[in-house]
Formats: sequence, structure tokens, C-alpha cells
Amino acid sequence: MTPSLIHKHILLGVTGSIAAYKSADIVRRLREAGAIVRVIMTENAKRFITPLTMQAVSGHPIHEDLFDVRAEAAMGHIELARWADVIVVAPATADFMARLANGNANDLLTTLCLATRAPIALAPAMNQAMWQHVLTQDTLQVLKQKGIYFFEPDEGSQACGDVGPGRMMEPVEIVKKVSQLFVTGMLAGKKILITAGPTHEAIDPVRYMTNASSGKMGYALAQAAFEAGAEVSLISGPVHLAVLPHVTCFSVVSAQEMYAAVMKIVTHYDIFLAVAAVADYRCQHVLKQKLHKEEEQTQLQLERNPDIITAVGKLTKRPLIVGFAAETEDVIPRAKQKRKQKNMDLIVANCVGEGMGMNSDDNEVTVIGANFEKMLPRMSKQQLARALIEMIAKF
Ligand code: PMT
Repeated sequence: MTPSLIHKHILLGVTGSIAAYKSADIVRRLREAGAIVRVIMTENAKRFITPLTMQAVSGHPIHEDLFDVRAEAAMGHIELARWADVIVVAPATADFMARLANGNANDLLTTLCLATRAPIALAPAMNQAMWQHVLTQDTLQVLKQKGIYFFEPDEGSQACGDVGPGRMMEPVEIVKKVSQLFVTGMLAGKKILITAGPTHEAIDPVRYMTNASSGKMGYALAQAAFEAGAEVSLISGPVHLAVLPHVTCFSVVSAQEMYAAVMKIVTHYDIFLAVAAVADYRCQHVLKQKLHKEEEQTQLQLERNPDIITAVGKLTKRPLIVGFAAETEDVIPRAKQKRKQKNMDLIVANCVGEGMGMNSDDNEVTVIGANFEKMLPRMSKQQLARALIEMIAKF
């Protein structure tokens, strides 16, 4: 697996070129590298490769029509634009490049390119004379200036019999280039410790108290920190997520275990990122035997768990501390108060509820420091993690 492609959402656009037969191979290789791929085909692309082939290799229905009511009901075009971590158009024809440079939104693919915040990369494929034409070269420059990435075509013999530049880059190289888009090096040389997931606080041998944290936000941050070049350690509560290669992971169950695991190693790190939803209380007496329902009512005596961030904040050799605050009301004032109380450098205020924040794929947060406040709108946790890691690196 290519570490930087794991769990990445890749939207592959296929336009009408003979090189479209290679798009199936691109999908296969992206999936082998750990990515989740959805495919959009233009009308002309379907003349070269069937939607059925692309559906079979991607494992998802093909997106093809801006006005398809059924497709919009399943995953609308704006949702798809938000879903993407990157849009790769391979092959990209001269016509597609020109329409994109012109700001057109006259089919699903161009519309998505305008609607997304994700990076866009094009792998052009066309006849060598078309590629070298001054209009195509001008379009190339316009798109590059607008921040579009290009996987430029190779030279060689072409399907039409010509020889020259215009052959789409080989799938194996395209996949490498896509993975490089996610590698930034912004935290190169830094060590980062992250907590993620919930904790379980035992009541008796078979029951425990917990919360709805899935670990997705913390794991996405660990992945983004790794892609930014950091050495990453993750202390994770019980979650159902795949292990991240290249991240050192320590599994814990309770808040006390998480506290002990953090305090043992935190002084070796430059940054401490506390994403875990740690239980504030635990049972004072964990029952040795299963609690039976003999009484109509029962009571559990709870006592406070140690606060991990507060303890880290008191260390003389203290890392940069970034905490999270999951709140359902008065989100910003409460987060500000927590930041000060717990001596954090930054806090990420997280409104939870209504399908967002906890145990969801998307999140929307406000990052708060001593003198600033920046809102990051709703996006996938992977996208948000990259934005947060960039902010932390700059901070
Ligand atoms: O896991 P997901 O489903 O992806 O959801 C992500 C999330 C919503 C859990 C995450 O984004 C988030 O907001 N985490 C913080 C959860 C929270 O409610 O924290 P808190 O307000 O209880 O605590 C504030 C900060 O202190 C947190 O950084 C927390 O890790 C830390 N803390 C809390 C208690 C404790 N005993 N020790 C701590 O260090």
C-alpha cells in the first residue's frame, strides 16, 4: 500500500480519448494503494470504455449526468465535490482543458471541478499536434496559474500513427504522482503525539461507560501528520479502525491507561494533539461480579479521572499543546474557557450533533488561539485533518 493514499477519496474523471482504456488500470492501482475511487465519465468517454467496466473496477456506480435525479438522490454533485480529496482527470482531452480554463460548468465533470475545494490534477492525452498547438499550450499555462496540477504527457508513438508528445502518462506513474500530492513535508523533523477515540470506564466485568467517539478525527490527523513528514505516535482508545502503517500505535482502554501512556512518553515530542474523548469520570468501585437487576434503581459512585492535558501543560519540558472541545451549546465561549483553563496553545472547537463531529465522516470546527479564531467549514475529516496540520505547522 502507498501510505499517503490510504483512505483517500479520489474522484477520477474520464474524458473522450483512446487513452481511456488505461483509466481502468488507474482505478485498480489506486485501490490497491488503499484509495477509495469514484468515477465520472463524460459522454465521449463512454465511446472508448464502458461504464460497466469502470463500475466493476471501482466498485461504485459511475457518475455521468448532472441532471440524473436518481444519482443526485444517492450522492448529489455538491456532495461528491465535497467528498473528493483530489480530482484526477485521466485522460484529459484538449476540449476538457479548454472548457475548464474557460470556467464552464456544462457537464458533471466541469461542474464538480468548479464546486470542489480539493486539488485538481489533469493527465492530458491527445494527438501530438493538438498538444503542441499554441492554444492548448496557452490553456495549459492558464490552468497551471490557477493551481491545477498536470501530469504531463509522454512522448512516443500514438494511436493515430503520429510520433511525439501527447501520450497519457502511464497509470503506474499517475498513481505515484497522485500520492505525492498528499506529501507536504511541513512537519519534517517534528515528533507528534496524538490521542484518539473514546475510553471505556468499567462498571463490572461486562459493562462499561463510554461515548460515541469513533477515532476517525484522531486517525485522520495521525495520517495527515505522517504525510506532513512528522514522526507520529498514536495513543488510541478502543476503536474499529484499520491500523495506520508508519504510525506507532499504543492501544489503551481507560482514561487512566491513556493518562499513563501519554505521561510516559510525551516529553519526547514536539507537539501533543489531544483528540480523544476521554471520560471525565470513572466508577469509584468497579464491581468484581456482574451487576444483577434486583433493585428498581441503583446508583454508581463516580470519581474524576486525571486530566491529561492539564498534566502535560504543567510539565517543565512541555510540547506545543493542541486540544479539542466537543460541545453541543455555547461552543466557542466554552472552548475559549477550556483553552485557558488547561493551558493549551490552540483549541479546536467542535460542535457535535446533527450527524456531524462525533462518529461521523465530516466535521466543521473553529480553531482558537490566544489572539485568533479561524473557522474551517464542513468537510471530510481527512480534508480537515490536512488543513489543521497545515495550521499547526505554521503556528
Ligand atoms: O472520534 P470521532 O468520532 O472522529 O470524533 C472526534 C471528536 C468529536 C471526539 C473530536 O473531534 C473531539 O472533539 N475531541 C474532544 C472531545 C471532548 O469532548 O473533549 P473535552 O471537552 O472533554 O476535553 C477537552 C480536551 O481535554 C480534549 O482535547 C480532551 O482530549 C482533553 N481531556 C479531556 C478529559 C481528560 N480527562 N483529559 C484530557 O486531556
